[in-house]
Parts: sequence; structure tokens; C-alpha cells
Amino acid sequence: MKEITQELLNSFRSPAFPGSYFLSFEGIEGAGKSTQIIRLKNHLEQKNFRVLVLREPGGTPFGEKMRQAILETKTEITPLAEAHLFASSRAQLLTEVVLKELAVPNTVIICDRYIDSSLVYQGHSRGLGIAEVLNIHNAFPLNLVPHLTFYLKINVDTSEKRQKMRNAPKDYFESKGVEFYKKLVVGYDTVAELFPNRILTLDAEVSLDSMTMTILDTVDKLLGQNKNTPQLEE
Ligand code: TYD
Repeated sequence: MKEITQELLNSFRSPAFPGSYFLSFEGIEGAGKSTQIIRLKNHLEQKNFRVLVLREPGGTPFGEKMRQAILETKTEITPLAEAHLFASSRAQLLTEVVLKELAVPNTVIICDRYIDSSLVYQGHSRGLGIAEVLNIHNAFPLNLVPHLTFYLKINVDTSEKRQKMRNAPKDYFESKGVEFYKKLVVGYDTVAELFPNRILTLDAEVSLDSMTMTILDTVDKLLGQNKNTPQLEE
């Protein structure tokens, strides 16, 4: 397996557009990403930021087709093919949307999953290797990473309970079972350690509101305008 060198890690940088920010949310199914993303979006809009929420895979017409192709497949795809499919959807999203939109000052892009999902799902849990997935992304613009990533951490039991409550049909990854999910939790811890300045791990077993407070506070600090934080609404 390839080695993760400091040089490789250093080649991943945040985009530099004055006044604009790129954020992402990560976590296993049921972590509560969607709720927190909506709350953060509302908060930032009240502060007069232009906010775009994107999801991966997807976010462009090509990416949405790729999303369907991956999540609805009934046959096994090799981890290497998976990693390249997600990376090609990501490359399209970066070129077609992220880079253009961040060039407009005062923009915040919030991405529901990004490169860390590939590092964890394909690199760690599917066994391709985190270094291999980093190498696939080691060229512009795929080597752009968010300024800040929130990893909403829950355990596998909580994820299962929340998935049952949702009662939605299982997609390709959701069908892979408990062992796969256990590996995801280990994978996220590993990746969070590789990028300690970018990834903030939050305990998502706690109440939604206390998690929101931490997220809004952290983003306000990053954006340098920790003033007049509006009251949370349920
Ligand atoms: P989605 O329904 O968006 O999951 P969730 O609601 O939990 O965010 O499905 C995306 C699935 O694709 C999810 O199981 C994670 C997986 N995935 C990867 O394996 N690699 C990736 O790079 C990305 C972006 C997602």
C-alpha cells in the first residue's frame, strides 16, 4: 500500500478567494448533516453572505447522473472504479460550480460530503488505501480542500436506529451492513487526524441545538464576524 507522506498532505490547500469560504460536512448516515447545513445556511444568509449548498456526488447535471449510476447500481463496482467515479463528479463540480462561485466575493459554499467521504468510504472502508485516494486527487483542482470541515460523529447503533426511523430504501453503501459502518467510524477518525487543522470532529449524539451552537460559533470565528449571533430556532 502507498505511504501517506507529509509532502502529499501538504499538496492539499484551500482555495484563496478574498472574502469567500468553502465548508463541508461529513459523517455516516443519520449523523444529522442536513439539519445542520440548513441552520448554518440560514445563519450566514442573515449575515448577508451569499450561500450555496451543494451535495456530493452530484451538484451538476453530469454529477447527478453519476450519483444515480453509483447509488442505484445493483452490481458490485470495484473500489478503484468507485474512487474514480466520485473524483470525476468532484472535478466537474469544482470546475463548473465551486471555482466560479467562490470568485464572487462574500460567497460561502457548503458541501454535503466532499473529499473526506472518498478517503473514508473508498480509501479506508472499501480498502483501496487512503494514500491511493489522495493520489487520485493530487492535481488541480481536485487538490482543493475546504477551509473547514465538520465531521458529525455518531456510533453505528445510532446510525442504524436513525436509518430505521427514516425507513427509506437502502442505497449501494447503506446495503453493505454493520461491519462496513464500523470501518467508516474508524476511517473518519483516521482522516480527521491527518487533517487536524481543517477537520473538526463534533459529537453528534448530543442535542441538535448544542451542535448548532458550536458550528455557528466556529464558522463565525473563521469568518471573523462573531457578532450578534441570532437565537436558535427549533
Ligand atoms: P447520500 O444519500 O448523499 O448519503 P447521505 O445522505 O448519508 O449523505 O449518498 C451518498 C453516498 O455515497 C454515501 O453513502 C456516501 C457515499 N460516498 C462515497 O462513498 N464516496 C464519496 O466520495 C462520496 C461523496 C459519497
